[in-house]
Amino acid sequence: MPGLAIRAVRPDEREAWEGLWSGYLDFYRASIPPETRDLTWSRIHDPLVPIHALVAEDEGVLVGLVHYVFHASAWTRGPYCYLQDLFTAPSSRGKGVARALIEAVMVEARHARADRVHWLTMEDNAPARALYDTLADRSGFIQYRRILPPG
Ligand SMILES: CC(C)(COP(=O)(O)OP(=O)(O)OC[C@H]1O[C@@H](n2cnc3c(N)ncnc32)[C@H](O)[C@@H]1OP(=O)(O)O)[C@@H](O)C(=O)NCCC(=O)NCCS
Repeated sequence: MPGLAIRAVRPDEREAWEGLWSGYLDFYRASIPPETRDLTWSRIHDPLVPIHALVAEDEGVLVGLVHYVFHASAWTRGPYCYLQDLFTAPSSRGKGVARALIEAVMVEARHARADRVHWLTMEDNAPARALYDTLADRSGFIQYRRILPPG
């Protein structure tokens, strides 16, 4: 997409960021309370917290978002990078926005000397899988999860 820019989200872009993230959460029928949204937004701009957000800007409008998190690994000297959330605004899909966001995360992960970028998707997410199959290998692992009670 000519004119597409991938860059870190700026502290003055909360509204546009939240619009994209809400679209992503709606896609998963998930809801996150306002105080947790506030916390995530502040963590993204906290240099001591390894959560990061890149956005895709087209003609001055934010059309895509990716969140990624660095975490230590018992297997390697360098960190791993978990690509947690990826969303392209519906009107901008199929134009390479998500591909550009993922490639930008790869660049950031290399800068951080990470050994690996990994991410999950739903088995039935055909558009996402069509993209991911061109970018990475399937690990063969399946995810187990137990949601813990608060407190
Ligand atoms: C999945 C998603 C991020 C893809 O974003 P996008 O910006 O449209 O993706 P891109 O344009 O970069 O995709 C490029 C490739 O993905 C594949 N692809 C993307 N959308 C597709 C679709 N609807 N049908 C089939 N293939 C598709 C194509 O192989 C395409 O290849 P091409 O570049 O050779 O044409 C977007 O559809 C989205 O936000 N969906 C809702 C949230 C979601 O599923 N996020 C990922 C969760 S893990």
